[in-house]
Amino acid sequence: MTTQTSSTNPLVLDALRVAVPDGETERVLLERVDLAVAPGEVVVLTGGSGSGKSTLLAITGLLRRTDSGDVVIAGESTAKASEKRRSAIRGSQIGIIYQSANLISSLTAREQLEVVYHIAGKKRSEARLRAADLLEIVGLGHRMDALPQHLSGGERQRVGVARSLMSNPSVLLADEPTASLDPSLSADIARLIADEAHKRGLAALLVTHDDAPLEVADRHVHLERGRLSELADVGN
Ligand SMILES: Nc1ncnc2c1ncn2[C@@H]1O[C@H](COP(=O)(O)OP(=O)(O)O)[C@@H](O)[C@H]1O
Ligand SMILES: [Mg+2]
Repeated sequence: MTTQTSSTNPLVLDALRVAVPDGETERVLLERVDLAVAPGEVVVLTGGSGSGKSTLLAITGLLRRTDSGDVVIAGESTAKASEKRRSAIRGSQIGIIYQSANLISSLTAREQLEVVYHIAGKKRSEARLRAADLLEIVGLGHRMDALPQHLSGGERQRVGVARSLMSNPSVLLADEPTASLDPSLSADIARLIADEAHKRGLAALLVTHDDAPLEVADRHVHLERGRLSELADVGN
């Protein structure tokens, strides 16, 4: 990977530092964390339980603020941005896939996706078409009207992947997206996420505990004692 400037990378983490209260003192969870993810690049993040992976992903997704440093999304600095602006950037630039899909039980697969457009204030007819297209792409064209309770775990996660793409983001984030699936389904979902990231030129950051996402990674970074290091065990 050639070195690129922050303006060409959809996702740049710049010198993040986060400390959390720990009894009388504090525990440094992230320290001097730097990362740049290029368009169409799939970076997989590993680390032991409690190492700060979810915290790092929440900060990257603008769901939580860093103590110092910056998260630059599509060239825009977010550290000093208002909550309103951060929320707008999240809505338009960042797609998030959760561990257990986080679907709304009363909505059909198609409606789960339409809700994203509704929140963004877009036209209903446009939302319906885009939702149908995306569900087709993730292999659920025949399950569009199904409620979550009638979908398998793998199908629910496919809906989660499709939903993350609704806003046409430039950054895709996933916190253990395959953790609740059995190994063969995990591989399918990891492959689907990587394929969509490659095809759409999304900067993807996937946190994982299991091996499936590592098999589709372009790069592997590891979080330990607050520091992020690059491992050379994937890609070329
Ligand atoms: N706001 C907070 N206050 C206190 N402790 C926190 C806070 N946020 C995270 N932690 C702690 O930081 C550690 C890392 O959490 P997390 O990011 O969820 O790790 P991982 O996802 O790698 O398992 C955990 O021990 C957690 O309890
Ligand atoms: Mg976690």
